[in-house]
Amino acid sequence: MIFDPKITAALLRKETGLRPALGMVLGSGFQQAITHLEVAREFAYGQLPGFPTVGVTGHAGKLVVGTFDNVPVLVLKGRTHYYEGVEMERLTFPVRVLAELGIRTLLLTNAAGAVNRLYRSGDFMALTDHINFMGANPLRGPALPGLPRFVDLTRVYDRRMLKVAQMAAKKSKLRLHTGVYLAVSGPNYETPAEIRAFRRLGADAIGMSTVPEAIVARQCGLAVAGISCITNKAGGDEKAGVLVHQDVLAMGESKKDEMARFLKAFAVHHANLGK
Ligand code: HPA
Repeated sequence: MIFDPKITAALLRKETGLRPALGMVLGSGFQQAITHLEVAREFAYGQLPGFPTVGVTGHAGKLVVGTFDNVPVLVLKGRTHYYEGVEMERLTFPVRVLAELGIRTLLLTNAAGAVNRLYRSGDFMALTDHINFMGANPLRGPALPGLPRFVDLTRVYDRRMLKVAQMAAKKSKLRLHTGVYLAVSGPNYETPAEIRAFRRLGADAIGMSTVPEAIVARQCGLAVAGISCITNKAGGDEKAGVLVHQDVLAMGESKKDEMARFLKAFAVHHANLGK
C-alpha cells in the first residue's frame, strides 16, 4: 500500500474531537441526504493523504464529521468509482482509514438499476448479499500485516444492521425491499441481454460501486449495511427511452427527504443498539 491509513487517521483524530462508531458512504443520489446532520468539521478529500479524488457529477468528495440528534457520525460524501480508472486499492483506502479511526459499522449507499421485475423506480433495497461482477478485487496485492488474506464473505451484510435499516425505513416511510446487488465495472449501462442474464444469476439490483468497499470493510472487521435507491429499470426500458446519468441523479434528488430521514433514523437506531 502506497499510503498508510494510520497516518490519515491520526490527522483526522487530531482535527476533530468526535469519535463516531458509525460511518456512511453517500453514493449517487444520496449526496443531498445529510440535511439533518449537524456538521462539526468538513475535509475535502484533497486534504486527506491517500484519499482518491472524485470525478463524477453528483459526487462531492468531502469527509464530514457531525451529529444526528447527538449521535456522532462520519460521512464520506462522494466516492470514487472503478470506471474512473482508479485502482481498487486506492478507491477503498478511505474505508481503511475509517477502520483505523475506530468506526465499527459502515452504511454504504448507492443508486442502482432494478433487475428484479417487482421493483419500481423510487423504491429502496437493503442489500442481503452481493455478486462481484467487476472483474477486479480490492484485496489483490501483497498480504496486509494483521489482516486476513482470505476473507470470509458468508455474511457480508450484517443481519443486525439489516434490522436497523428496516426499522429506519419504517420510520422514514420508504419502501424497502431486501435483495442481492450485482456490481459491474461500468461505466456503460447494461444491455437488455445482460440484464436477463444477471436476473438468472440471482441479482435484484445492479450498480457500479459498493462491493469493493464492502469487501475491504469485512477484511477490517466492520459490520456492513448497504442500501440502494432504485433509480431506474436496468437494461433500458424501450418505452421510457435511453438511460442517462442525469435521470439517475434526478430520481435521487426527488427522494432526498426520505433518504435524509432514513440516514438520521439509521444513526439513532444504531446508537440505541449499544444501550
Ligand atoms: N446499471 C448500473 N448502474 C446503475 C444503474 C443501472 O441501471 N442505475 C444506477 N446505477
